[in-house]
Amino acid sequence: MSNQFTKPPHARQDWTIDQGWRAYTDEEHKTWDVLYQLLMKVLTTRAAPEFLSGLEALDLHRGGIPEFERMSDELEALTGWRVVAVPGLVPDEVFFEHLANRRFPAGNFIRKPDQLDYIQEPDVFHDVFGHVPMLTDPVFADYMVAYGEGGLRSLRHASLKNLAALYWYTVEFGLIQTNQGLRIYGAGIVSSPAESVFSLEDPSPNRVAFDLRRLMRTDYRIDDFQQTYFVIESYDQLFRATVDTDFGPLYADLQGEFDFKPEDVVATDKVISKGTQAYANKGGRFAA
Ligand code: PHE
Ligand code: FE
Repeated sequence: MSNQFTKPPHARQDWTIDQGWRAYTDEEHKTWDVLYQLLMKVLTTRAAPEFLSGLEALDLHRGGIPEFERMSDELEALTGWRVVAVPGLVPDEVFFEHLANRRFPAGNFIRKPDQLDYIQEPDVFHDVFGHVPMLTDPVFADYMVAYGEGGLRSLRHASLKNLAALYWYTVEFGLIQTNQGLRIYGAGIVSSPAESVFSLEDPSPNRVAFDLRRLMRTDYRIDDFQQTYFVIESYDQLFRATVDTDFGPLYADLQGEFDFKPEDVVATDKVISKGTQAYANKGGRFAA
């Protein structure tokens, strides 16, 4: 998500900038295409149907980095959302304000060819390929608006940390149960070829049924594959569980702290598969 830092001089008051689509080089468009092809090899049988149909609906398969204005016109017709360009991570309040107004802020830069597997700051590939397809689903689109409004509220409670865990374990790293088994809808997973396979097939991580309170009490990893994935039954379940709950008392209870470590399995969990944690115990991506 986001941090606090100073606004670059070329950014507007709301931190948006022009995408500068014409300035992308052939090499940059090619980076998009290489990643797109790489991901589609693993995602056609692993991503949620709503993600895959979202890619189609927005013509993201056409090749090259999409032009935000063109894509936003198509997206707006479906769910009222638009994609706006930002220089990178933006302050929390700015981020939430955009979401609450159906604007998804996306970085306009793309990773270098030697960073195909891992980047620290979300680029246009993660932000657009990862997040935007799900915004074509009406229920998920409304969830993201509610999240933005809830985010503004969490800042007044100093409880961003617990709300950030919700974003992390759903929007970024969520799995969903479907007729064809578990599928991925989280943007952080679908934009990583390796984690797309790991999240569904590796014996290491726990896969646990979504439980709002449990999840908001759980710390998470930002530097490696997740040690636990939470599985929703439907976007409606996610929307209802979060919108129908007043987070005020929850925030007061949690005091901005986490009770559970990323790898914990707790007594109340509905466990889908208990992980061995072999990957993390070997040292994860830093293993020799
Ligand atoms: N219900 C939350 C609150 O009371 C707001 C929210 C809705 C947060 C949906 C996230 C997702 O603050
Ligand atoms: Fe993201």
